[in-house]
Amino acid sequence: MRRTWQTYFQPTTLRDALRLLQEHRSQARVIAGGTDVIVELSRDIKPASTLIDISRIAELDGIRSDDETIVLGGLSTHNDVISSDACVDGAFPLAQACLEIGAPQLRTRATIAGNLVTASPANDTISALVALDATLILTSLRGLRAVPTDEFYTGFRATVLQPDELIAEIRIPRLRRHQRGLFIKLGLRRAQAISVIHVAIVLSFDGAIVSDVKIALGCLAPTIVRAPTAEAFLVGKTLDAGVCDEAARLICESTSPIDDIRGTADYRLLTLHRLTNDGLERLARGEERSTWPAQPVLLDTLSDTGHPQLLMERDGSTLTTIETIINGQAMHVRGDAPRKTLLDLVREDAGLTGAKEGCAEGECGACTVWIDGQAVMSCLVPAGQAHGAAITTIEGLAESPDILHPLQQAFIDRGASQCGFCIPGMVMAGAKLLDERAAPSTDEMLSAVSGNICRCTGYRKILDAMVAVSAQPAVEINA
Ligand SMILES: Cc1cc2nc3c(=O)[nH]c(=O)nc-3n(C[C@H](O)[C@H](O)[C@H](O)COP(=O)(O)OP(=O)(O)OC[C@H]3O[C@@H](n4cnc5c(N)ncnc54)[C@H](O)[C@@H]3O)c2cc1C
Ligand code: FES
Ligand code: FES
Repeated sequence: MRRTWQTYFQPTTLRDALRLLQEHRSQARVIAGGTDVIVELSRDIKPASTLIDISRIAELDGIRSDDETIVLGGLSTHNDVISSDACVDGAFPLAQACLEIGAPQLRTRATIAGNLVTASPANDTISALVALDATLILTSLRGLRAVPTDEFYTGFRATVLQPDELIAEIRIPRLRRHQRGLFIKLGLRRAQAISVIHVAIVLSFDGAIVSDVKIALGCLAPTIVRAPTAEAFLVGKTLDAGVCDEAARLICESTSPIDDIRGTADYRLLTLHRLTNDGLERLARGEERSTWPAQPVLLDTLSDTGHPQLLMERDGSTLTTIETIINGQAMHVRGDAPRKTLLDLVREDAGLTGAKEGCAEGECGACTVWIDGQAVMSCLVPAGQAHGAAITTIEGLAESPDILHPLQQAFIDRGASQCGFCIPGMVMAGAKLLDERAAPSTDEMLSAVSGNICRCTGYRKILDAMVAVSAQPAVEINA
């Protein structure tokens, strides 16, 4: 991974972060989960000499809710939303959108705020939050301001966020009993797929009659767009098959989709009709929640095995030394460590070469390690986030050199490896799933390794090995 930043700040209070942002705004970028920033920096997009890591600011953490509102802290991750009963109950389209993001090892770290600020019209949570009528609370040393999500965007990847501002909170009016909503995405595959198109719909009902409608469409225009004609048409109607079809037709009539590498304009129009029609019919039947998994795969058993006291031993907010625990061994790394990714730290400084660099863009999963109990793509985690944390790599998974982790043994027994390049990542993802639940289903196993690509074994034996260590009976799959 090409290193482009020179200075790495890791403030622990919001005030310190805002001060740093004001002081360094022309050369600095904020980093949270890093899943967009690290990729952009490696491609020389919005280069920055300074990173301000906000991931340790407790004031930005957490989700709280009451009868009226759900409030996501600025650091809420996709996993936080997926695993929040309040969000699944009261902001269901957002929970669905979060579960569609990338792969589990991204959702452990990637944040909703980061998704909003990157501002791609393909970004899944934006449409969900627009349909849910969410408001963003922006903060700077100048004070707070509230911006409705659909007023946040001014053009392609452009927002009203000022260089000295952070998203502190995302406020979502809770879905009421008379409201139903959903999010549907069309991607080129079921994981690690940027939307070809997606739609978020929230309907209010007065009995069987639609009384209010919000439809947000992604990946059709330079920003997320609404469908005002179809929205107006639906108000006062009962959702029968003809009404759903006509609304879908009006949505298509009012859009002129983009043509790009993921789909032609014609393909988008064709699938948009089908997607919106299906979505409305599912809402009419009250079936929008029928496919939501009872226990979504998180690869996240967040533990406090880290060592937060280490965070105190440093020079203000500037991170110059990384003090971390890797596979139970304490490590102090100076020099250019804060300018690396976690993958480079593990391979170059700790000399642990099990985690591999396949793509350096979060696409292949070969670099999967655990940080404080969360499986992550270590190529996208700045090494600074290992400071005060506990890291486990494939080298630390076995109980001893003679007693392998049961999944490692199963990979050997089943011959689930050819060149072996992807295997450490596969095993780290699979072993985390087994930490999370003793007897995962085949679907859960597929979901756990959906961010891991193998170019030579074929997935059959890999899944056989996972099934072998699970208490579940094997199920026939078409891998
Ligand atoms: C392989 C891969 C697959 C992906 N798949 C999807 C997908 O399916 N759908 C999708 O929508 N996205 C996808 N993404 C994009 C990405 O994971 C999301 O946009 C993610 O939510 C970004 O969050 P983050 O915390 O990692 O952001 P970061 O990379 O840390 O930051 C992103 C931007 O937001 C800014 N920022 C972060 N937090 C704040 C804050 N609180 N206040 C102000 N500015 C802030 C940063 O300065 C930066 O400009 C994918 C990315 C990868 C690498
Ligand atoms: S996902 Fe990290 S190297 Fe491919
Ligand atoms: S075993 Fe070769 S890439 Fe998976």
